[in-house]
Amino acid sequence: MTNEQWFADNQANWNDRAALHAASGYGIQELIDDPSLISPELAQDLHRFGNLTDRDVIHLQCHLGTDTIGFARAGARRVVGVDLSDESLRRARAIARNCGVNVKYVHANVYDARAAVDGDFDLVYTSVGVLCWLPNIAGWARVVASLLKPGGTFFIRDDHPMFMAIGEDVSDGLKIEQPYFQQDSPMTWDYEGSYVEAPESAPPITHTTSHEWNHSLGEIVSALIDAGLVIDRLEEIPYSAWCPWPELMTQEPDGRWRLTDNPDRLPLQFAIEAHKP
Ligand SMILES: C[S@@+](CC[C@H](N)C(=O)[O-])C[C@H]1O[C@@H](n2cnc3c(N)ncnc32)[C@H](O)[C@@H]1O
Repeated sequence: MTNEQWFADNQANWNDRAALHAASGYGIQELIDDPSLISPELAQDLHRFGNLTDRDVIHLQCHLGTDTIGFARAGARRVVGVDLSDESLRRARAIARNCGVNVKYVHANVYDARAAVDGDFDLVYTSVGVLCWLPNIAGWARVVASLLKPGGTFFIRDDHPMFMAIGEDVSDGLKIEQPYFQQDSPMTWDYEGSYVEAPESAPPITHTTSHEWNHSLGEIVSALIDAGLVIDRLEEIPYSAWCPWPELMTQEPDGRWRLTDNPDRLPLQFAIEAHKP
C-alpha cells in the first residue's frame, strides 16, 4: 500500500469517529453553554503561551476543534485548525459557530498544511493522539517549522512512544510488543470502537481499518532540531488523557488516567516546547 491509501483509510475511519465522538458528548455542549470555558486539554497548557492577543495560532490535527476554540477565547487574532477528516471539520465549524468564535478550519493532510494555509504563525500547537497517524516524523517537523514566524513557538503534548509500544493484551501485565522506533510500514488495525464511551444510539464505525506509526522520543526531538527549531523544554508525564487498559488504570478527579500500581514506572505522555530562531 502507498501513503495515499493509508491516509484514505485513516480519513474514512476519522470521519466515522467524528460522528461517534460528537454523539459521546466530547465536552461540546459544555463549551457552547459556557462562553468562558477552555477545554481541559488546552487549559493545562494555555499558561505556557503567554498573552495570545495579537497572536496568530494554528492547531494541527484539530479534530472537532474543542481545543481550537480555546485559542479564540484566549484572544488570539487569527486561529486556524487543520485536519484530514472533512467530517470532523464540518462538525468543528458548527461547534465554533454555536460558541460564537471565529476559527478558520482548513481541510488538509498535515503534510500539505504549508501549501493549504496563508501566512506564518506565532504558535503552532498540536496535542494528544496526533503523531501516531503520521508515517514520517522528519517531514512533519519540516511542515511545523515552515508554518512558524521567526521567534514563534511550537508546542506538542502527545502519547509517549513507550506507552504506544505496549501491547493490547495486558492480562499478563504490561509487555512491549509494538515497535518503539518509526517503521516504513504501519501497524494496521481493524477496530469498531474509539477511545470514548458512546451511547447505543451512536452511529457505528463502518470504516474500521486504520494505520498507525510509532516514533521514538529521539526521532521526534531530532526531527524538530533538524528542521531548525530550538528545543526549550521536554517533559515526560505519568498520566494519559485516555485509558487503553481499564483493568490497570485509575481515573483521577481531574479526568487524567494513571497506572493504578506503581504509576511512575512508565511515561504515558510527553510535551515539547520549542521555538524558531
Ligand atoms: C486523536 S485526534 C486529535 C485529538 C484532539 N486532541 C482532540 O481530542 O480533539 C487525531 C486527529 O488527527 C487527524 N489526522 C489523522 N491523520 C492526519 C493527517 N495525516 N493530517 C491531518 N490530520 C490528521 C484525525 O482526522 C483526527 O481528527
